[in-house]
Amino acid sequence: MKLNIAVLPGDGIGPEIIGQALRVTEAVCEKFGHELSYEYAIVGASAIDEVGNPYPDSTHELCMSADAVLFGAIGDPKYDNDPSAKVRPEQGLLAMRKKLGLFANIRPVTTFPSLIHKSPLRAELIEGADFMCIRELTGGMYFGRPQGRSEDGNTAYDTCVYTREEVERILHLSYKYAQLRRKKVTVVDKANVLATSRLWRQVAQEIEKQYPDVETEYMFVDNAAMQIIQWPKRFDVLVTENLFGDILTDEASVITGSLGMLPSASIGIETSVFEPIHGSYPQAAGKNIANPLATILSAALMFEYAFELKEEGALIRKAVDASMDAGVVTEDISSAGKAYSTSDVGDWIVNFVKK
Ligand code: IPM
Ligand code: MN
Repeated sequence: MKLNIAVLPGDGIGPEIIGQALRVTEAVCEKFGHELSYEYAIVGASAIDEVGNPYPDSTHELCMSADAVLFGAIGDPKYDNDPSAKVRPEQGLLAMRKKLGLFANIRPVTTFPSLIHKSPLRAELIEGADFMCIRELTGGMYFGRPQGRSEDGNTAYDTCVYTREEVERILHLSYKYAQLRRKKVTVVDKANVLATSRLWRQVAQEIEKQYPDVETEYMFVDNAAMQIIQWPKRFDVLVTENLFGDILTDEASVITGSLGMLPSASIGIETSVFEPIHGSYPQAAGKNIANPLATILSAALMFEYAFELKEEGALIRKAVDASMDAGVVTEDISSAGKAYSTSDVGDWIVNFVKK
């Protein structure tokens, strides 16, 4: 098969972790006889520095013409500490999501036997947890307008907007994934307070009837925040709006043992994007210490979701599990004091794939 991918390393540790994921992707393609071609493009703070735009048209065109996008991370402290900056790296990520129509962000949450002890949660609570967060990605407060400040600068506002169509499409997608899993959907909202959440709930109550084989439950987001860490095994597919999904998935990474482990797939209308959920971790940039596994697992999702190449994805997962069992891991998840570098972990996984 021909695989044509756009590679967007972005900022901070992005280039290092993407470098390893790309090597793993190349090794898998070689092993299975796929023809891989890829091209790099700029995004985020590095794109602002180069061309003044965090998601330049040339990058968008490359993404549109590719079969899949492998994405690193964006963000730079020089913008985090300057709330008055007119152009921000995050705008690049948001523009990409909007322009590619990536309305569904799929964030699988599972545990790894060798990491169970790394979680601050008790082993018996998390062992075997396996659920999928589906975060709506192109609506809600991230994109709602008006957004801004009053003239005197002392009042600020964001607007949360959802349309029926936006809610319907993400719910249908969630039910379809639930049908392939344990057939349970948890719709997370704040319908006791927010109008947008009441629309979500109303639409969900209509749509659930079309999927009688799937059990539906409704949960307020505050309660969900608690249940995710108290009883993670009760969830199968959890679907929620953009901001709630952003927050709940960082929380859910605690179950996995490290934020450095969670991959994601963003799918929608145009080309799908595969990216780790963690950020650009600027403190570690250039040090070859960042955990590449979330990005390597995002490459596994790319094989599975963008190309329907299940065996290839499974081999990457197997290699990641084996690297952890062998203790070849970066400092964030190492135990016996021996930490490997980003590229050591990549080397080990590439060799495993080639065997
Ligand atoms: C994520 C990130 C982004 C988000 C930031 C970098 C804009 O936190 O993908 O979860 O909030 O969506
Ligand atoms: Mn986030």
